[in-house]
Amino acid sequence: MNKEQYINHFENLLDEQIKRAEKLSENKKEIQNKDKTVIGLVDGDGIGPIILESAKSVINFLLKDEIDSNKIEIKEINGLTIENRMKTGKTLPDDILEKIKSCDVLLKGPTTTPKGGTMESANVALRRELDLYANIRPVKIPEKDIDWAFFRENTEGEYVLGSKGIEIPGLLSMDFKVITVEGTKRIAKSAFEYAKNNGKNHVTIVTKANIMKKTDGLFSDICHKVAKDYPDIEVDEYYVDIISAHLIDPQMQSKFQVFVLPNLYGDIITDEAAQLQGGVSTAGSINAGDEYAMFEAIHGSAPRLFEEGIQDYASPASILRALALLLSHIGFYDKSKILNSALDKQLSKNENIKCTQFTENLINILKEGI
Ligand code: IPM
Ligand code: MG
Repeated sequence: MNKEQYINHFENLLDEQIKRAEKLSENKKEIQNKDKTVIGLVDGDGIGPIILESAKSVINFLLKDEIDSNKIEIKEINGLTIENRMKTGKTLPDDILEKIKSCDVLLKGPTTTPKGGTMESANVALRRELDLYANIRPVKIPEKDIDWAFFRENTEGEYVLGSKGIEIPGLLSMDFKVITVEGTKRIAKSAFEYAKNNGKNHVTIVTKANIMKKTDGLFSDICHKVAKDYPDIEVDEYYVDIISAHLIDPQMQSKFQVFVLPNLYGDIITDEAAQLQGGVSTAGSINAGDEYAMFEAIHGSAPRLFEEGIQDYASPASILRALALLLSHIGFYDKSKILNSALDKQLSKNENIKCTQFTENLINILKEGI
């Protein structure tokens, strides 16, 4: 490519992003109350089908009456696999996306993303297609008085053009980061509303606005503007490097409650936070928009377990935490609590067992009653 072609490429990206930002300001769709909730189970790659099988058994146990009375419908959606995506050349094959869109909420297994190249992550594409702008990741460590909720912006920042950068072979590469006013407003509002409705009085904004002056600068400004509508909530702002230090500082940890962050910082910081809680397999994640919500484990498809031949020992804990979040999202607060307590009990045994055995033991705990 010559210089003009790169400029052309950039101009197209700019037009595309201006259109996206303008569309975000348009009026939202009204959400209707439905008699039936459709839960889609998307298995994905690697250990996805193994851990989804566990989630299916737990759903069938916990929601048996609701499924029988047709209040809940379960739709299994298979084939969001790397093989299928390579074959169709589409990150989200059309038939699968259509099935996904026919559900209200989704429980999704991990999907593999090749490093480099131009194949986009299925996660990122789904978040964009379903406009799942809020990635909410709770981390709780009661014995350390830690009860955090991370509100990670999920559709823009470093991710929106992550596979559309410029490469001049042998010379340089350039990626782009995009932050919009509306995109920031809606994630900031979600974080402050959550704080207000959950008895929290402290929201921390995380940026690197001293370096990413334009994008993080805008993120910071908008978050502070939104904060003005919540005068009872204390607001502070930290740069992402120092917050990653504070999160592991016993003197500081319990001071934080709710965080709001741009996409990539949210990705990194939530893995750190999950590790403090016991590892990425212990945390669930909500991807919420105004129309759909998708729940997933925060870990990947675990190719290493396959290399070592121990994939059957994959832990379903994270996807089951995600299921607990899903249950509470659709109004089954008690069932969500019961599942979390059963998981606490099962995990406290620290057993190295197969996924199928973990599920069986967990269902036995549920049957005995918590
Ligand atoms: C996550 C994951 C994803 C992300 C990957 C799998 C694309 O790390 O959900 O945190 O970077 O968002
Ligand atoms: Mg991540």
